[in-house]
Parts: sequence; C-alpha cells; structure tokens
Amino acid sequence: MADSLWLIARFTQSSGFTPWVKRAISFRPLAIGQTIKRFNNQQFNNNKMISYKELGLVNTRKMFAKAVDGGYAIPAFNFNNMEQLQAIIMAAVETKSPVILQVSKGARNYANQTLLRYMAQGAVEYAKELGCAHPEIVLHLDHGDSFETCKSCIDMGFSSVMIDGSALPYDENVALTKKVVDYAHQYDVTVEGELGVLAGVEDEVSAAESHYTKPEEVIDFVTKTGVDSLAISIGTSHGAYKFTPEQCTVDPATGRLVPPPLAFDVLEAIEKKLPGFPIVLHGSSSVPQDEVDTINKYGGALKAAVGIPEEQLRKAAKSAVCKINIDSDSRLAMTAAIRKTFAEKPAEFDPRKYLGPARDNMKKLYVHKIINVLGSNDKLEEA
Ligand code: G3H
Ligand code: 13P
Ligand code: ZN
Repeated sequence: MADSLWLIARFTQSSGFTPWVKRAISFRPLAIGQTIKRFNNQQFNNNKMISYKELGLVNTRKMFAKAVDGGYAIPAFNFNNMEQLQAIIMAAVETKSPVILQVSKGARNYANQTLLRYMAQGAVEYAKELGCAHPEIVLHLDHGDSFETCKSCIDMGFSSVMIDGSALPYDENVALTKKVVDYAHQYDVTVEGELGVLAGVEDEVSAAESHYTKPEEVIDFVTKTGVDSLAISIGTSHGAYKFTPEQCTVDPATGRLVPPPLAFDVLEAIEKKLPGFPIVLHGSSSVPQDEVDTINKYGGALKAAVGIPEEQLRKAAKSAVCKINIDSDSRLAMTAAIRKTFAEKPAEFDPRKYLGPARDNMKKLYVHKIINVLGSNDKLEEA
C-alpha cells in the first residue's frame, strides 16, 4: 500500500503529465495503478544497467581459451530476424556447440537493438527448451563504430562487443579501443578490436581495398588496449563478392572461379608475436555455389559471387583463429529457399510457408559449418 502511494505521488509530481491525467487518477484507481506500473517499468528499464549474466549469456573469455587450445573456432553468426535466430539456436543445440550471436549496425537499424537483445535473451530459454541444459551463448556487437554504441550495448546486456577502429589512424584506433575496453571490463564484458582493413561491399561495412594486418603492430596494440581478441586482415572480405574474376583463377574441371589463398604467412607471423592470443576472422563466408545456382535458377542474378574456400577456413580454425564470422552464407541460404518456394508454389502467400523452408535451409548450413568447417561441435562444457 505504501508502495502504491509512493508510486502515485511520484507519478503525479512528474511535470510531463497533463491535468486530465491527474484528474483521472482520482476516478480510475485500478486503471491508473496499471498505468503507473507500466510507467515505472519503463523508467526502470531505461535507467537500469542489465548484466548479461542475469540473462544467461556468457562472455567469450573462457570459450576462446578453450577453442585456441582445442584447435577449433567458435561460430559467430549474424542475425536480423526470428527465423535466422531460431535456425542458429537449433543448429547449436543439435551439435552441442557454443555460439556467438552477432548484431551489426545494419541489424540494429533494421530490427531495433532492444528487440534483438530481448530476442537473444529468449534464445537462451529456447535453447534450454530444446534440451540444452547449459547453453553457451554470447551476444556480441559486430563492428561497433563508437564508444557510445558499445556502451549502450554493454548497458543493455550484451556480453561482448567489437570496437572497429580499423579505418582510423593507428593511435586513434588504440585510444578508442582502450576506452571501450576500460568500460567493458568493469562489467566483465569482453572486447574484440581490429587491426588491418578488410575489403568488401556491404550495407554498413565497406572498404575499397584490404590492407593486411601488420604483424609488427600487434603486440603494441594488444598491450596498450587490453583487448580480449583481435580481428585481423589476411585476405578475407565482407559480402558475397570477395574477389573480382581477375583476382581468381578458373578451375578447368568445373569452370568455377578459384580465389587466391589467404595469407597464412601473415597469420603465422601474428601467432608468433602473440602465442595463444585469440584471433578473429571476419568476412568468412564461403558463398556456397549450390545456393548461388539455386538463386540464379529461380530468377536471381548473382554473377561471379565467390567466397573463402572451406578448406582454408578449416585450416585457420585449427590455429589461434578462434572466432569465424559468417553472415552472407546465411543470407544466400535464406534467399535460395525463398526463391525456390516462390517459383514452385506461386500461389503461396503465407509467410510461414516460405520462411519455414528458409529456416530449414539456414539450419542445415549452420550445422554443416559447425561440424565440417569450424569443429566446434561437442565443445559445450556441460550439455
Ligand atoms: O560484417 C558485416 C555483417 O555481414 C553485417 O552486415 O551491416 O549489412 O548487417 P550488415
Ligand atoms: P561475410 O560477409 O563473409 O559473411 O562476413 C560476415 C562478417 O564478417 C560479419 O562481421
Ligand atoms: Zn565483419
């Protein structure tokens, strides 16, 4: 009772409420009581710092240490919608794999950061419902572009953030990354930094050319910033068009484009400088040609799309590369399934009838990546 009186007093004191609202209080105590509760919940959510630990999420520290030791990589899958998230969780549970759910700037603009955060919280419960008693799920900000964005994600329950200062001059990258690390570590949130520039064209992440990471910079960067993991540039790039046809050779047997190999010499030099330090690869979609063919067969126009061959990613996963980012492959799997359904069942208009097959196709892709490329299956501490 005392609580309710205090709430009413606080509500009526608020300068933003018009006299008719205050008048209504005296006439509709029950309805107003509910309004006050809603108002206070909103205030609570706006002000309160939410720890990812309360949401059942984990940070990357232990996960990465185990992956580096064990010679495998953790999948970092981007999500923008419910079907993608369901497919990721179904695949991770089925394969008993830890997983990183990534939220990009494009995803935040499209779906809303708060909604995505609540979806990730729901994903933990969903994984348990699917039979995984102890899921290891990281909610990670992908390509954070400012301290403010990173802070806002940390404050609302992300367990890991990337601060991407790779386009900045070196000293500015160090200063910005350190600022994020200093804030994040107060809350046991892990931070990924980046050195070197990836080429590629995507909605929110783009650069005309790549610049490999300079091994001579990595010790200084990691020491000065205190980052928990380092994204490097060794020839991967964002999107479905990672290389121009001129950069590729042609496989005479299939006529397919064969991309140039990754710069494993640069990776080895970095590993020598930072033994056992967690390394991250962005832009690691393989652009499965069967999905590209399906898209093109059913009216798409993806010409000369080419990705990173899976053998090269398998080789990288066995090294200190312990996080591999995959987004475009999921987009291709989703688009291929939707195009096929539309072509084969033109009368269909229930979104569940084309998003369902899209979800199945993405799940198949995620399971394949986990088992056959990254090797993170059966790596949960406790299933
Ligand atoms: O690294 C980039 C990711 O694929 C996200 O791209 O900003 O278009 O969502 P996006
Ligand atoms: P892809 O475009 O190769 O899937 O890369 C995704 C990525 O790096 C997300 O940060
Ligand atoms: Zn990326």
